[in-house]
Amino acid sequence: MNVISPVLSFFKKRDDKKTDKEIVRENPCIDCSICLEVCDKGLWPSVLMADIKAGQFEDARKHGIDQCNDCGDCSAECPMSIPLYKYLRVGKVLSQYNKDKSGLIPILLELQSNYGYLPEDMISHIARYLNLSVGHIRSVASFYKSLRLTPPGRRHVCICRGTACHISGAPKLTRETEKLLGIKEGETSADNEYTLDTVACVGCCALAPVITVNSETYGKMDREKIKKQLKIPGDKDENPG
Ligand code: SF4
Ligand code: SF4
Ligand code: FES
Repeated sequence: MNVISPVLSFFKKRDDKKTDKEIVRENPCIDCSICLEVCDKGLWPSVLMADIKAGQFEDARKHGIDQCNDCGDCSAECPMSIPLYKYLRVGKVLSQYNKDKSGLIPILLELQSNYGYLPEDMISHIARYLNLSVGHIRSVASFYKSLRLTPPGRRHVCICRGTACHISGAPKLTRETEKLLGIKEGETSADNEYTLDTVACVGCCALAPVITVNSETYGKMDREKIKKQLKIPGDKDENPG
């Protein structure tokens, strides 16, 4: 549903180089209620954002943050280009947890599984919520192989290192894939096309060895199938220079 006023759209400015904090500071909410009107869930996104910015997660719960489906319509229609969805997505996860430091790893894992990585803004919210330093959270996230502080490449290739896949050749497949892509495990290619990681069992052990590419799962993989699946024209290790 698009109800944006043509007059307000005049004010809509975008500058991709600016950080979210700069955008919010320079483009304050003007209480136009457009985000309220576009939300099919009947939520009031600017109020939820205010709750989350103030660390009032109990209020965000009362105001229905759990109903938000992360559709992004409110952000898309905000005439001030306020990235509401970034507050809402982290607020939705945090509002499910108590302010207990033991919740840090589950929170990080949930946000990571939903959003692919842990942006700086998300970490600041978590730090404030759990009363931990940003540095502490970053060091915890760096320690865990499955957590990322930078966005993955367009094709995020994960090779399962669970027991069934391990004994079906996952370690060899990992080395072969590293050579095919010209990157090591944990790295992203210079053109940002591929990120290569290994993951714990993805639950398709009968199909071992298994890989995932973004949200798709592929079984019974070998070097040639990976090459075909990823449409790799030539082996990086076979190309001179
Ligand atoms: S967040 Fe944007 S759309 Fe919502 S009330 Fe504020 S300015 Fe209007
Ligand atoms: S992102 Fe959430 S709050 Fe915003 S319009 Fe969608 S459901 Fe409503
Ligand atoms: S061990 Fe790889 S899918 Fe289970």
